[in-house]
This record gives sequence, structure tokens and C-alpha cells, in this order.
Amino acid sequence: MTARLIDLELLAGVLSAAAWLAAAGYAATRRHRPAAVLVVVAVLAFLARIGLVAALGRAGWWFVQEKLTLTLPMAAVTAAAAAAVALTARRWTALALAVAAYGAAAGPVLALFAGYPAGWGIGLVTAGTVALAGVVTWQAAGHRSRRAPFVWLLALAPVVLGAAVAVPSSASATSSSSSSSPEVGPGVPVSSVRGPDPEAAAASGIAVRRFTLTARTATVTLSSGQRVQAWTFDGRVPGPALEVTQGDLVVVTLRNADIAAGVTLHWHGYDVPAGEDGVAGMTQEAVRPGGSFEYRFRADQAGTYWYHTHEASDRAVRLGLYGTLVVRPRAAAADGVDLTLPLHTFGTALTVGDRDQPTTHTVAPGTPVRLRVVNTDDGPHRLTLTAPFRLVAVDGTDLNEPGVLERVAIRLPAGARADLAVTAGAAPVTLDVDGGRATVRLTPAADTPAAPPVNTAAWPTLDQTRYGTPAPTPFDAHSRFDRRFTMVLDRGVTLADGLPKYAFTVNGRAYPYVTTQTVRAGDLVHLTVVNRSRDTHPMHLHGHHVLALRYNGRPFLGSPLWMDTFDVQPGEVWEVGLRADNPGVWMNHCHNLKHAAKGMAVHLAYEGYEAASHHAHGA
Ligand code: C2O
Ligand code: CU
Repeated sequence: MTARLIDLELLAGVLSAAAWLAAAGYAATRRHRPAAVLVVVAVLAFLARIGLVAALGRAGWWFVQEKLTLTLPMAAVTAAAAAAVALTARRWTALALAVAAYGAAAGPVLALFAGYPAGWGIGLVTAGTVALAGVVTWQAAGHRSRRAPFVWLLALAPVVLGAAVAVPSSASATSSSSSSSPEVGPGVPVSSVRGPDPEAAAASGIAVRRFTLTARTATVTLSSGQRVQAWTFDGRVPGPALEVTQGDLVVVTLRNADIAAGVTLHWHGYDVPAGEDGVAGMTQEAVRPGGSFEYRFRADQAGTYWYHTHEASDRAVRLGLYGTLVVRPRAAAADGVDLTLPLHTFGTALTVGDRDQPTTHTVAPGTPVRLRVVNTDDGPHRLTLTAPFRLVAVDGTDLNEPGVLERVAIRLPAGARADLAVTAGAAPVTLDVDGGRATVRLTPAADTPAAPPVNTAAWPTLDQTRYGTPAPTPFDAHSRFDRRFTMVLDRGVTLADGLPKYAFTVNGRAYPYVTTQTVRAGDLVHLTVVNRSRDTHPMHLHGHHVLALRYNGRPFLGSPLWMDTFDVQPGEVWEVGLRADNPGVWMNHCHNLKHAAKGMAVHLAYEGYEAASHHAHGA
């Protein structure tokens, strides 16, 4: 709904500007009747904008801020001026109508290229640019005047002044950690916040599980025969499936054979100590070819997780540097079938595990099956099952009393995991991804004929705001929060790595210039995430799980929902909460890794801690 309003308002702005401009053209050639008709169209479109902005405002101030304070007034003023000129100084009518067009165009242009929040600097640049466009039109129309240089100056001044305000403020880089403020002194480097020592752990009776993963380039053959040039762990995609038992100490040695870009291991969704988080340039330096790094962390949380490199991750994860991590509960029910199904797209082939063909598992009727689906892609996937099932866990955490679902699809955001529980039947059961782009079959016998395909396109998507049963949580939407942060996600032209770019922005800025979210250990933290843009943003905070509190202002009514990655779709507002209980400096970013690479990332830093390197290129 909100996304629709955003689009309509944009459209009305474009229509209004186009009508003013066309009216100016007719006025210039003295065709007054079509000019008058177009003026009426322009005014109607402007009135429509006012109505749409009023409706949009109900979704939140973030969606209308620059429209109310800047672009609607600008459109109104230039239109009123055009009316006044048409009535009093007719020979200037065409020029005045053109200026009204520029004034109206400021709305869509600013919405698309600057967004929220528009401050004084942007306001001055916009006003000056409208005036400049007017001056250019005036001169182009052949008007000559001795005062022309003065007029040029008058229009140029606000642009220069505005830029002088806006540019430095978009780069007033906020340190990458709180502790660089002089009175605190240097903080604890996150690289020193490490997991337990394996020898000591073993001595105290903790099971130590050791793995070695070697990153290297390889040519991998998919089950369809398609060969892909991949970046791999141990020569395979996905990398080895790591499986441990809750309570184990996990020790993983990462080696880099020949990945020139460097490589790390980030334990996606696992709340490891900060120094084990694998963010290159921030918690450690990337491991270069020939080098190695040892990660260690206690497997306290049972559930479905994954790992991937966190250096040049946009490209490197796409090329294959990822794998799954499953932590089994200590008291696991031994019966049943448990399948881990990482989804990944190579080129156009959607793969499940290392296969891009339908994969078939023979399962005796009546057997309980757990399907752990892991989305390692940049966008969401849609999951359907042809038998009744339950969504038993999200992002590794079990849901409370999830009900049986039938003919309902699950939306799985980029980076997220969904565990589905189904009972194998006498008839085959099919898991379809994106309506059959990839398929996993459970059949009672190897020779059971495949079930006819089911058209699942019309099935509704599960509403996770009301699935399962409420249960007590350590805090809720009514708790007293120690810190509140708002992240308005958008696109805009801003500084990124020192150069102006069309970036993916958080609060109008691009990483590393986004203001750090500073917390103190023990704080209860409230995050509001607003998506003003036209893309979906799967937001991922490292080192913590967040509890869903409100969706578009409405409370969550079902099972508590703890997530590490949640999809904020265009026009949506999510409110989530977390306990700051894992000291360090953490990435909080969009898991569409292309977006993260183009600016959509911020640090959440604990007071007294600092990133290993201030030039973090960790997204
Ligand atoms: Cu799975 Cu910072 O990422
Ligand atoms: Cu994004």
C-alpha cells in the first residue's frame, strides 16, 4: 500500500511537471487554448500529489519529510508565481510556466536522488537549481539584458551555498567506533575479543570439534552438466556442511590457497565473540593466499546457520564461498530424516546443495522430515510444500507451537533460514522453490513415479506476524528501551568512499559515512527500519538476534519471532528489539550484498570497543 502511494506520488509529480512544460511550449507559440488545458492538468496533478502525500504521511514522517518541507512548497510557489505572471505580465507567461515545471519536477527528482532527510543544504541546492533552469530558459529564449550576469549569480549562489552545507555533512564521518572520542581513549580492539582456548576447554571436558576449510578456485560441475568457475571451500560448492552438537567448542582453521581478493569466515546468524566474526578490515584482516586464521566459538545455540566469506562478499559469496552450519540440540530425537538445503543461484541456475536438478530422497511413509532451507542468495525465495507442514524454526530459533500449514507459501529472505517439518507419506512430497525453479522430492520408494506438478502460484504467503502461539519474551514492544535508532533505507546521490555516487543509503548517507549506532553493554536497543526505496532490503545485524516487535505499527501476535535477517520491503516499517549482550563492533547491513557494497551498511558499536581498522571495507 505505502509502496503504491510512493509510486503514484512520483508519477503525479512527473505528470504535473510534464504538463507545465508542455503548457509553456504552447504559450511560447501563442496557442492559448491547449496551454490553458495543460495548466488545468498540471494543477490537478499537483492537487493529486497533495492528497497522496497526506495519505503517505500516515505511514510515517520519513515517507513525506522532503515533500512537506521542500518539494510541495516549491511546486506551489512556482505555480502561484506562474499564475501571477500570466495575469499581470503576459509576455513572461511562457517563462513562468517553464519555471513552474521545474518547480514541480523538483519533487520526483529529489525523491529519486536525495530522499530522506532533506536538510538546508539540499533545500538551497534545489531552489537554486530551479532558478538556474529558469535563467537558462530565459537566455535560451533569446532575452538579452545587461542584468543577466547578476541574475546568473543570484541563481548560482544558493546552489554553491547549499552544496557547501550538504557535501561536508554527508561525509562528516562519524568514527567507526565510539571509543575514539578523546575522553575515552583507545578502546578494546575487537580483534582481541576471542573465543575460548581449545586446550583449556578440552581440559574442562568440553568436546572440541575441529575443521579445516581451504578457500580456492575450482571448476565445479552442476548436476545438469553445467560447469561453473567457482570460488570454493575445499573445492566444492557449497563448502563442507559443518555439523556439531550444542555445547561443542567449534574450532575452524581457514586457509587460503589462491583467492587473491582475500577471504574470511563470517558465521551468519551465529552470535560469536566479536573477534571471531570474520569481517575483513574490522574484526580481522582478510586471509591472503598462503595465510590462515583460526576461528573458535562455543556452539551455544542449536539450529540452522551458515557461513560465508566477508571480504569482497558481493562477488565472493555469489561465486561460491559459503556453506552451512547446523548445531544439533544435545537431546536430539534420533528418528527421522534431517536435510540441510542451501539455495544458491549460479548464473541462471538455482541450485539446492550442489545440484540444479530435482533432487529425490527416498523416505519411508510416516517418517518425520526436517527440511532446513538456507537462502544464500541476494534476493528472497518462495517455498511451497505439497503436503501439510509446519514452519518450526526461523533463523535457527524454534517457533512456539507453530500450527499446521497447507497450500501456503513461505517467503525466505536473503540470508535467512526456515526449518520445515513434514511427515513423509505414501504419496511423494514436493518442495518447490520459486514455483518449481528448483525442486526437492521425498518419495516412499526409489521407483515411485514423480507426482504431477502442482500450480502453487496462487497460494498465499504465510503471514508471520500471526503464526504460532505467543510466549513470554525477555522484553517486548512496551519495554523501556535504553537506545532507539532509526534506519531509513533509500537510494540517493551521496559520498561513498570519497566520491559522489548513486548509493544505497541509510539515513541519507552511504557506508562508511553512516552515523554509528553506539550502545553500552546491557542496553535494551530499539531499531526502527523504514524502507523508502523501491527495492527489498534484507537487513542483517551481526552478533545478535533481534525480536520482532511491530510491523507497520502493528504488534506481532503469534510466536515470538527472533531473527538475524528480515526482509524490509518497499514502504514497510519494522520495529525490532535486541539486548546488547555481545560487546564489540558489529556490521548492521543489507544482505543483498550488492546493496551493502554500494553503501547500505552501518556499525553498531559498544562503548569502549574499537574496530581493528578504521578503514573498514567489511561490507
Ligand atoms: Cu551474512 Cu555481514 O553477513
Ligand atoms: Cu538492500
